[in-house]
Amino acid sequence: MPVIALVGCLLSMSQAAFAPYSRPTNIAHRGASAYAPEHTLPAYRLALEQGADFVEPDLQVTRDGALVCLHDTTLERTTDVKARFPSRATMVKGRATWPVAEFTLAEIKTLDAGSWLDGKWADTRVPTFQEMIDTVRGKAGIIPETKAPEVYGARGLDMEKLLMETLARNRLDKPGADPKTPVIIQSFSEASLRKLRSDHACKLPLVFLFGSLGREKPARAVDRIRRFGDGIAPNVQVLNGAPMLADEAHKANMSVTVWTVRARTSTAAGEARAEMRRLIRDLKVDAIFTDNPDLFPRD
Ligand code: G3P
Ligand code: CA
Repeated sequence: MPVIALVGCLLSMSQAAFAPYSRPTNIAHRGASAYAPEHTLPAYRLALEQGADFVEPDLQVTRDGALVCLHDTTLERTTDVKARFPSRATMVKGRATWPVAEFTLAEIKTLDAGSWLDGKWADTRVPTFQEMIDTVRGKAGIIPETKAPEVYGARGLDMEKLLMETLARNRLDKPGADPKTPVIIQSFSEASLRKLRSDHACKLPLVFLFGSLGREKPARAVDRIRRFGDGIAPNVQVLNGAPMLADEAHKANMSVTVWTVRARTSTAAGEARAEMRRLIRDLKVDAIFTDNPDLFPRD
């Protein structure tokens, strides 16, 4: 092979893992969740209006096997389930809780998922993953998180299978299948990412989330994660404490995604924007989860 062709080939190989991140990437964390109720269609639509490159759905599974977008494994923080289904609580360590997996999709669809944030969002519903795809497709990428898959596995609900089936039905299960809607899968669960790659032959980029390094050295952590993932996703505190993580990941041809930058008040907006600018410029991160996609620096 001529040298120029070889260089081109190597370059395209090295870019492949970064392909979904062709520029510093703005990921709407739970949608534009600083401004609208997290994981609702209004939050996802607002994220698109605010210029998000990717929109994040966290995934949970209903009793009848539907993927829904919700951060918690339980319904009480972000819906009115407590008032609507008072007798359906499950007691966990003396605390009443309403697990998603105890409710059918039809039941969950009766819940108000907006009033907890502000009355003006009353009657906003918990979206299915399919509704999320229909809302975002063609306008941004999608970065679903397999959330607590072990909770569902213990109940015979296979989150990874449901995820890959949904992506396949939408023809989004292969890298580059829809250039306007790249898909990356993220998880805190190493087992979930391994299962996606081995049992489901998933070729989509897989990103591993972590909120602590423990005693592990950055180079060692990256070497471990590259065995089952294509990118690292530390939280901001971990990355600030071990900035060499980014260099080590890039040396291993892995992407660096960081979470989460947010400004809940307008006075904090400048700080959030400056923080994102610093993460991109100084730490060379490839992508940032933010509750405020409108504050993502493009200069
Ligand atoms: O997935 C990235 C970030 O969202 C992880 O934190 O708890 O908001 O899902 P969490
Ligand atoms: Ca998440």
